[in-house]
Amino acid sequence: MANVAVVGAQWGDEGKGKIVDWLSQRADVVVRFQGGHNAGHTLVIGNVEYRLSLLPSGVVRPDKLSIIGNGVVIDPWALLQEIEQMREKGITVTPDNLKIAENATLILPSHAQIDRAREAAQGEKKIGTTGRGIGPAYEDKVGRRAIRLCDLADPASLSEKLDQLLLHHNALLRALGAPEVERTPLFQALLKIAPQVLPFADTVWQRLDEARRAGKRILFEGAQGVMLDVDHGTYPYVTSSNTHPGTAASGAGMGPGAVGYVLGITKAYTTRVGSGPFPTELRDAIGEQLGARGKEFGVVTGRKRRCGWFDAVMVRQAVKVAGITGIALTKLDVLDGLPELKVCTAYRWRGELLHHLPASAAVQAELEPVYETVEGWSESTRGARSWAQLNAFAIKYIRRIEELIEAPVALFSTSPERDDTVLVRDPFED
Ligand code: GDP
Ligand code: IMO
Ligand code: MG
Repeated sequence: MANVAVVGAQWGDEGKGKIVDWLSQRADVVVRFQGGHNAGHTLVIGNVEYRLSLLPSGVVRPDKLSIIGNGVVIDPWALLQEIEQMREKGITVTPDNLKIAENATLILPSHAQIDRAREAAQGEKKIGTTGRGIGPAYEDKVGRRAIRLCDLADPASLSEKLDQLLLHHNALLRALGAPEVERTPLFQALLKIAPQVLPFADTVWQRLDEARRAGKRILFEGAQGVMLDVDHGTYPYVTSSNTHPGTAASGAGMGPGAVGYVLGITKAYTTRVGSGPFPTELRDAIGEQLGARGKEFGVVTGRKRRCGWFDAVMVRQAVKVAGITGIALTKLDVLDGLPELKVCTAYRWRGELLHHLPASAAVQAELEPVYETVEGWSESTRGARSWAQLNAFAIKYIRRIEELIEAPVALFSTSPERDDTVLVRDPFED
């Protein structure tokens, strides 16, 4: 039996939330280990749609323990708002079923202000961040000046830490020509929110150690995707954390052996939101069709997602660098009715054939995709719940993808609905 880490194998929004929700029936604990409320994970259960940004996607099942690990950056106001939104939908989140690492870094309003002011100053060259303060919060963590959840319990030292932090933030905001942050109202706001969030604070590494020793199953829920990883992604057009499954252990407070099976969530085509290179992007009617049929709009910002053909070179690279054991292939149904499909099998760069994504952003921007054409299908795969319900061409497409990316399909998904999911091999038993 293995614990499972779920990570995106592309540029995010692959359907991680849906798959984590489905898999959490087989798990006891669901842990978020990196990212913050830049993530937007969608669950569709019957007629109800849930959109989660900070809460682990196991939270809708009352008997599961949800954990937000130390690797996550937490905006406490956004957290309480999300808990309230879930309450309105009948889901109860309390300190009994949600534990947050006491050593997790907090996102303050000034982080979001810096994020947005920087993006505005970049103009055309902007990253296209979610504007949630994720990058500035991780910078402060690494710079050893962050305010952490445990700091809310000690107003005297919180006050000192806030002075240190604002010295830095206001210098940045001044330089960017943005309004500075006022200390007193921010300090008061932190003192006010402290008693609402501190009950969730815990030594989550102990809870995880207990779970591990009791033979409980742990499901690690990644945010974003391997191509947005700060080391392995399309830098600088990435997020500010390691989305790599190695972070599942360090971002939760467990050893590297904690993760057994790495499940890479992969769309049957490709999308990206924000700026940055995208070799297989379709700026034509097919791209529009994929976007419309796949409802490709960002959960967090509402931005239209860029769409393109499946990039097997990129996903194979994600499989290798992240040690992906198997994939969950989602949104196959979005390809229904397309007479032919293209799959990128190599890149051409200044006449040279490349079989990997080079690190340089300038080179990435010049890559031309080399395509293989695959026959499409006219039958509907939407809602299919077994291999037998798929037509021969859809099966052929899946088999070709497996071959090209050098990883097997462990699950596939044929609609947003929880139960339209087919298990091919159980990651917990593999
Ligand atoms: P995440 O960030 O990886 O959790 O993915 P998002 O929730 O941001 O985006 C995935 C979108 O695709 C959501 O709207 C899901 O409801 C939807 N979705 C997931 N799986 C499928 C599928 O197999 N078919 C279709 N049509 N939609 C899906
Ligand atoms: P989920 O978990 C897709 C992208 C942003 C931007 C870049 C940096 O739903 O898959 P940031 O705000 O993190 O500094 O933005 O990363 N991005 C995502 N794209 N899905 C996400 O999360 C993303 N989180 C961040 O659009 O390009
Ligand atoms: Mg998303």
